[in-house]
Amino acid sequence: MRKEFTKADIEILKNIMLQRRDVRGNRFLKTQIDDEILNEILNAANCAPSVGFSQPWKFILIKDETKRDKIYQEFLKENKKAKKIFEDNKLYANLKLEGIKESYINLAVLYEKPKKSILGQTSQKKVGEYSVVCAIQNLWLMARAYNIGVGWISILKPKKVKKILNIDKNYKLIAYLAIGYVNEFLDEPELLKLNWEKRKTLEEIQTI
Ligand SMILES: Cc1cc2nc3c(=O)[nH]c(=O)nc-3n(C[C@H](O)[C@H](O)[C@H](O)COP(=O)(O)O)c2cc1C
Repeated sequence: MRKEFTKADIEILKNIMLQRRDVRGNRFLKTQIDDEILNEILNAANCAPSVGFSQPWKFILIKDETKRDKIYQEFLKENKKAKKIFEDNKLYANLKLEGIKESYINLAVLYEKPKKSILGQTSQKKVGEYSVVCAIQNLWLMARAYNIGVGWISILKPKKVKKILNIDKNYKLIAYLAIGYVNEFLDEPELLKLNWEKRKTLEEIQTI
């Protein structure tokens, strides 16, 4: 089957990409996400490209408030250290950098270490993990299409998260995400608006 997309389709895809945002606790709502929609979002992740079609991802949905609170306490510890690293920049301390408790649900995205040789993963070991990141991006975009926000929280020690979630040693934590409806999606990344970073332009692309 050869599906031809239209200009209107392209415009929609572009809009979803441009209007995807990282969402934190100051914008999340607790509104319930229907299971059907949650499944659609996870299905989008599940159809991502993967090295040797290994699909090395595993998803753990976390509703449990006690576990989420434990993860949040770990975030606080890690962010205390991060605040010291950025102490010259007053902005850092005022940034909301997670939405663990405010979001509807959390999602741990794991990489399952291969039990056999994987086609394409023989020279570059990390390509399995990169495949999981492709799945996360699919999920992020599909969530946005459903007007659902996603926030990637990396100010966490994977070892601590794995312990709290009872994840065994065959899995590596790739991402800890907060997912939920939002009161607003910013039109640009917050860190751009705050002048923390500038957006790269295509002029930086090299042709050789
Ligand atoms: C791998 C990865 C890790 C991230 N970790 C964090 C984080 O710990 N806390 C946070 O507030 N944002 C985090 N972000 C979100 C980025 O800050 C955000 O994507 C960036 O500022 C661009 O904004 P946008 O996603 O809204 O376009 C992370 C994003 C990625 C891709």
